[in-house]
Amino acid sequence: MNEEAQSAASRKRDHIVLARYARKPRRNDFDRIFLVRPALPETEAALSNAECDFFGFRVAAPFFINAMTGGVEEGDRINRSLCRASEKNKIPMAFGSASFVERDPSALKGFEEARKLTNQPVLVNVNADTSPKTVKTLIKALDPIALQIHVNAVQELVMPEGSRKWKWKEKIAEIRQEAGIPVIVKEVGFGFDVSSIKTLAQMGVEAIDVSGRGGTNFCTIENSRRERGDFSYLSECGFSTVQSLLNARFARQLLNPEEGGEKKAMPAIISSGGIRNPLDVLKSLALGARWAGVSGRFLSTLLERGEEALQEEMAEWKEQLSGLIALYGASCPEECAKTAWICDAELESYVRQMARLAGRGEN
Ligand SMILES: Cc1cc2nc3c(=O)[nH]c(=O)nc-3n(C[C@H](O)[C@H](O)[C@H](O)COP(=O)(O)O)c2cc1C
Repeated sequence: MNEEAQSAASRKRDHIVLARYARKPRRNDFDRIFLVRPALPETEAALSNAECDFFGFRVAAPFFINAMTGGVEEGDRINRSLCRASEKNKIPMAFGSASFVERDPSALKGFEEARKLTNQPVLVNVNADTSPKTVKTLIKALDPIALQIHVNAVQELVMPEGSRKWKWKEKIAEIRQEAGIPVIVKEVGFGFDVSSIKTLAQMGVEAIDVSGRGGTNFCTIENSRRERGDFSYLSECGFSTVQSLLNARFARQLLNPEEGGEKKAMPAIISSGGIRNPLDVLKSLALGARWAGVSGRFLSTLLERGEEALQEEMAEWKEQLSGLIALYGASCPEECAKTAWICDAELESYVRQMARLAGRGEN
């Protein structure tokens, strides 16, 4: 293994350990959203209420295990547990970044072994600097239903060994052209602004995982790996997950011809970053997301309470979510996009200010 590959392997090990301390159970912007609950829902709670389509594949619920790890021994062990939980619960699963395979081809084996443990759809994750050739090798070996390309400028800036070049648009387009499967462009916890969502929609990207602030904080994680130069003041940088979902609604309006915008299909929106419980999943759907991705919460259950506890937790989430969907008057995840919501004064002020910027074409 060369020096660069060794440093990436050691970073992956650090992330697994440090993620436990960079995700405190606390309030986030999902607590600012209140769904309107009908006292006469005229629905019936059944487990099948939560079933939905995931890139053309029927799955048990609109949440999935989001990208975390792989390519190092501890990470491969975690992925094997996550894949077994995915299979048991019929929930999709995303592997952590496999860009590493470009520098250390032997790292592919661990991903392949985990992949064999689930028949559910999986997502392969790479950074935007990965060569299309490596992406094709990964797709051939792991047979993902879609490809995640992560964009993580804040993390790279704070990461001691991080890249300082964040020119990704052309690279995303090149990878997408070669991949031949749907592409999801994904943040890692700092959210998405309106203009970047619009740009990706104009590029024809199939989905955007907004992965906003509110859960695992990669500024805190990378800052604690630094020996000098404190970046803790950046930990509130970017948009929260809820703000990012609202930004996607502004982008949709700007792209919608009926509302005077440009005619362009909107990518499917994925909500991730600080999803703590099934109600956060439901709120995500009400705010316009198709699916919600969960990382830190499932990882801490696995590491603190074991694989069986994770499998049980995921089964509980499915059951509770199917109940919540009915409680709020819907019969399937797709219908939840119609659930009415209100928000507190702070978020309302955000919406008003962003609408003003959008009116002037400034966001
Ligand atoms: C240990 C760990 C490793 C991660 N590695 C990756 C990665 O390789 N690629 C990626 O796109 N996101 C990665 N993430 C970010 C998550 O996919 C997600 O965007 C972020 O943690 C916010 O979600 P959460 O609050 O549910 O944890 C990682 C997260 C954790 C906790």
